[in-house]
Amino acid sequence: MSTIYILNGPNLNLLGKREPEIYGHDTLADVEAMCRTAATDAKIEFRQSNHEGVLVDWIQEARDKADAIVINPAAYTHTSVAILDALSAFEGPVVEVHISDVHKREKFRHHSYVSLRADEVIVGRGVQGYLDGLAWAIEKLG
Ligand code: DQA
Repeated sequence: MSTIYILNGPNLNLLGKREPEIYGHDTLADVEAMCRTAATDAKIEFRQSNHEGVLVDWIQEARDKADAIVINPAAYTHTSVAILDALSAFEGPVVEVHISDVHKREKFRHHSYVSLRADEVIVGRGVQGYLDGLAWAIEKLG
């Protein structure tokens, strides 16, 4: 059975309470439950951190423990060469997910370091983007 790490960056612990007009009303626990229901044929490791180094540690851990990574790096998307480098050291498929359509928001959100490594990028589909990203990764792993 494949193992997929689903990693979430800063402020996503506030999902459902944080700017619901942009990010919707589902909580991160709801998203985790949806992912577990959808991925009956994969082992899901679902995590969130507000700290860049913790995310880097988890991506490094995934080198040995995961077959694919689905990541919403949140604000670190637009700033973090460290997360890009960690993902570049991971050999399996990487899916970048954003709940909102970052391309239709402020200019500083248009650039993503993570997209330089991601094999698939999903934006603007709400939390459905996690399920679509997961389905893409499962299909890719065969
Ligand atoms: C986000 C978009 C980012 O620009 C923002 O910093 C987030 C969430 C999204 O899921 O739409 O925190 O990654």
